Amino acid sequence: MNKPSIVIVGAGQAGAMAAAELRQSGFDGRVVLIGDESHLPYERPPLSKDVLLQPETARCQLFADGFYEERNIELRLGARVSAIDVEARHVSLADGETLPFDKLLLATGARVRRLPLLDRLGNDVYTLRTLDDARKLRPVLTPGRRVVLVGGGVIGLELASSAIDLGAHVTVIEQAPMVMGRCSPGVLNEYLCNVHRERGVVLHLGAALTHARRENGEIVLTLSDGAQVTGDAVIYGIGVEPDTRLASAAGLDVENGILIDENCRTSHPAIYAAGDATSQWDRLTRRFYRRETWENAKNQAITAARAMMGIEPAEAGVPWFWTDQCGMNIQFAGDMAAPEWIVRGQMDESRFMLFGLNDGELVAAITVNQAREMRSAKMLVDKRARLAADVWRDPQQNLRALLNAA
Ligand code: APR
Repeated sequence: MNKPSIVIVGAGQAGAMAAAELRQSGFDGRVVLIGDESHLPYERPPLSKDVLLQPETARCQLFADGFYEERNIELRLGARVSAIDVEARHVSLADGETLPFDKLLLATGARVRRLPLLDRLGNDVYTLRTLDDARKLRPVLTPGRRVVLVGGGVIGLELASSAIDLGAHVTVIEQAPMVMGRCSPGVLNEYLCNVHRERGVVLHLGAALTHARRENGEIVLTLSDGAQVTGDAVIYGIGVEPDTRLASAAGLDVENGILIDENCRTSHPAIYAAGDATSQWDRLTRRFYRRETWENAKNQAITAARAMMGIEPAEAGVPWFWTDQCGMNIQFAGDMAAPEWIVRGQMDESRFMLFGLNDGELVAAITVNQAREMRSAKMLVDKRARLAADVWRDPQQNLRALLNAA
């Protein structure tokens, strides 16, 4: 009997980690990993930081050069899947080749949300999603250069931090009243605004971009509050959209992401999906969630790989992600929409924690330059610990010990 074949579309972090997990878990059939970029699979967090700040030494490649060959993973780089034939069970590549599959994993990721108003200007307008994007940005961020960042989310603020480190003059334009609104609570966001301002960033909050033009070699942006911002280069990061094109064309259920169950299975029993492209069912809250995080890509890759082999998935833990900016490592765990937040430690010393409560229960935790506390904090969130506000506030309390008390 022929050995089964698994095809993975998308050679980003989720795709590559799923291929690795298949071999790690003993799958001995054919594994084909297809990606349209020319680089070996890499991870994205360093792109807005180390790749810009230390381009010579930064490493973002996921696995060593020989990894795929050693594990008999057929890596097809620079190859684009153009269609999935669900009936015939094969994918077609842009050059006409077809590849049969028994199981298919879609790890197609997300694409930058475009802003035509800026794209129309052509030169000196950038976005950041890929390694090639990051390499194009490096020569843009130079001392004295006036860089305008549109979007004060994760990408906008990490880039603001790197651009200041590289000596550029930085302005951030955010249309919402506050930065980082998608994924971080107000109390931390206000703190971040202050830190960025102290480092020299000019922040325009609550103002939408209405016009963009080029004048005498400069870019001039007009905002809804009448302000004008002039720069030499514009970088925008206004969010990403899941790449669901192949899934939709194949007739899979899609709604703000490829819909998957807890085993990462799509609406077709032979097709799975993982990473930024997905929206996953959560049994507890009975909702679909789209999570654009490094951890989610890793967890779903492992779950999908195992599920394709018939192995039960591990229990999902508390969701976690991080950002590095202004010399701070900030880690987030749990539900960032928690209605009440308690500060532990001194915010002005850039070393503190935030605890998010809902009805007295701990549902979220954030560490700022206190990464070592995150493990215990996550366990406390997982336990939905209930403790007095004074206990949460007190930096002398040992979080590990609190685990027993909660
Ligand atoms: N003008 C100004 N700001 C805008 C506009 C606009 N026209 N449209 C949206 N924004 C703002 C949003 O209000 C939000 O604060 O852009 C910000 C986008 O932030 P994110 O959703 O965090 O997206 P982004 O920063 O682009 O990051 C994209 O990369 O690093 C990952 O985790 C990150 O998955 C995320 C992805």
